[in-house]
Amino acid sequence: MSPVLNYDKSKPLKTKVLMVCLGNICRSPLAEGILKSKVDPDKVFVDSAGTGGYHIGEKPDSRSIDVAQIHGINISDQRCRKFSSADFEDFDLIYVMDKSNRANILSLANSESGAKKVKLLLEVINDSPQEVPDPYYGGKDGFENVYQMIDQACTQIGDNLNKQE
Ligand code: 4NP
Repeated sequence: MSPVLNYDKSKPLKTKVLMVCLGNICRSPLAEGILKSKVDPDKVFVDSAGTGGYHIGEKPDSRSIDVAQIHGINISDQRCRKFSSADFEDFDLIYVMDKSNRANILSLANSESGAKKVKLLLEVINDSPQEVPDPYYGGKDGFENVYQMIDQACTQIGDNLNKQE
C-alpha cells in the first residue's frame, strides 16, 4: 500500500476513488473536494493526482480554491502529487478528466485489472461532452464551467457509492 492512503483502516471502508488530471492543481482537486462532499468518509476514500510533476507539493490553483469556496467546499488543504503506477493497486475507481490523462496513465498500467479501473469522469453522465476541459490557461468563467461539469458527474458517482451497503 502506498503511504498516500492515510485513512483509518479500522473502519469498514468500501471504495477508494482517485481523480486524475494533468497538473493536479485545477480539475482533479475540484473533483476530489466535490466528491468528498457527497459521500461518507468512513465508507469512501477520495484522493487526486496529476500525470505531470510540475506542481508537486503545491496547493490547488487559487481559481479552483475560489470556485470551490463559492460553492461551500474547502480544497485549500490539498497538496499536489504525481500519479504513480502503485495507484492502480491502491484504488478501486480511477476517473480521468480527459483522454490525454487516460492515455498517460494507461501507459503506466501493468495489468488488465488496473487498466479496467480507468474511466473518463464524464462517462457517468449521459449525453455530456466526454472531456472536462483544462481551464488552466483561461479565465474564471472556465473554472465555474468545469465546476458544474464535475459536480454533475460527482452527484452521479456519489449516488452510486451511497447505494452500497
Ligand atoms: P489541471 O490543469 O490538469 O486541471 O490541474 C493544469 C494545471 C497546470 C498545468 C497544466 C494543466 N501546467 O502545465 O502547469
